[in-house]
Amino acid sequence: MLAKITPSKAIHWLGRQLLNREDPGAFFDPLTTAINPMWAQQYTPARVERITEETADTKTFVLKPAHRWGGFKAGQHLNVGIDINGVRRTRTFSLSSSPALWRNQGLITLTIKRLPGGLVTNWLHDELKTGDVIGLSEAFGDFLIPEEKRSVLFIAGGSGITPILSHLETMALEDYPGAVTLLYYVRTQSDVIGEERLIALRNRYPSFALNIITTHEGSEPRYLTGQDLDLIPGLADREIFLCGPKGLMELATDQLSQRGVSNDRQHSTFFAPPAPAQLASTDIGGEVTFSKSNLSVDSKGDANLLEIAEAAGLTPRHGCRMGICHQCTCTKTSGTVVNRLTGKTSGSGAESVQLCISVPQGPVALEA
Ligand code: FES
Repeated sequence: MLAKITPSKAIHWLGRQLLNREDPGAFFDPLTTAINPMWAQQYTPARVERITEETADTKTFVLKPAHRWGGFKAGQHLNVGIDINGVRRTRTFSLSSSPALWRNQGLITLTIKRLPGGLVTNWLHDELKTGDVIGLSEAFGDFLIPEEKRSVLFIAGGSGITPILSHLETMALEDYPGAVTLLYYVRTQSDVIGEERLIALRNRYPSFALNIITTHEGSEPRYLTGQDLDLIPGLADREIFLCGPKGLMELATDQLSQRGVSNDRQHSTFFAPPAPAQLASTDIGGEVTFSKSNLSVDSKGDANLLEIAEAAGLTPRHGCRMGICHQCTCTKTSGTVVNRLTGKTSGSGAESVQLCISVPQGPVALEA
C-alpha cells in the first residue's frame, strides 16, 4: 500500500534533497542535465573541446570545466565520472596541462592511456567525442614541488609522464631557479607521450635536461641503472619525483637509497595500487556491520571493506580503489582495521577509514 503523501511530507522531502551536502545533485541532476548537461551539481561538468592522439594507445582530452571548478596545482589528479550502460564509473587521472592553461583559457588536459581490459579507459578512447560532457571532481593529491626550490630529478615511465608534463610547463613558466632533469623510460620511441611539448621545453628552458631512454629497442631490455643516476649532477641534493609502472618505481627507489637519497626527498605517485603489505591470514577478516544499510556480513581473507561492501550488494562511493583519492572515506564507529598499504593497525574507536585499503581485523562497524 502506498503511504499518503501530505504537503508537509513533500516539503520535508524536498528540503532534505536541497540540504543533502554529501550528494547535492542526487535528486535534481537527472532533471537539470536533461535540459543542459553543464548544469549538473553532483560533480563539475566538463565539455570535451578537442581530442588528440599522442601514441597508438594514448590520447589527450582537452576539457573545459564549468566555471565553478576550483582549479589545481601541477602534479595533482582528479576523478572522472562517466555513465557506462547506466552505471556511474569513476577513475582517477593526472592533469597533464599546466594550471596556467586553466587560469588563462579555462581549459585543462587529461592524457589517458588505453589499458588492456580497462572498462573506463577503453570507453574514453572509443566513445567519448568532442562536445560530450563528463563529470569531474575537484583536484587533489600531494605530488607537488616543495616551497624550497631545490634542483629536481623527474623519473617517469610510460604514461607516468602526465603529471610531470604539468610540472615541467609550470616550472618553465615560472623560471624555476634550480636545475631540472627528466629521465623518461619508454618501450620504443613511438611510445613517447608529449614529445613535441618536451622538445619545446628543452629548447626554451636552458636548465632543463631531457633524457628519453628506450627500453625495448635493443637486443636486450635496457632498464634504469645506477649509472643513469650517477650521471645526474648533485643527485643527493635534488628533490626526486617518480611516476610510472611498479617495476620502474621499485628499481628507482632501490638505486636512490643505495646512493643515500633520503626517503623524504623522494615523492611518488601511483598509476596502479602499490604493493600491498603482507598480512597474516590468521589476523584478518571478521564480521562487518554497515549500520545505515542495516546489514552485517562475515568476511574472510584479505578482502578490503570496499570489496566486502560491494560483494554484499552495496555501492559505496569510491574513485581510484588504491588509497589516493579519499572518495571512499567513511566513519568506522568501532573495531580495528589494517591498512592494506602500510600494514598498520588502526585504533578500535570511531575514526575515518578509507574503505578501499582497510581490511577488517575482527568485528568492525561502519556508518555506511
Ligand atoms: S577509492 Fe580512492 S582512496 Fe579509496
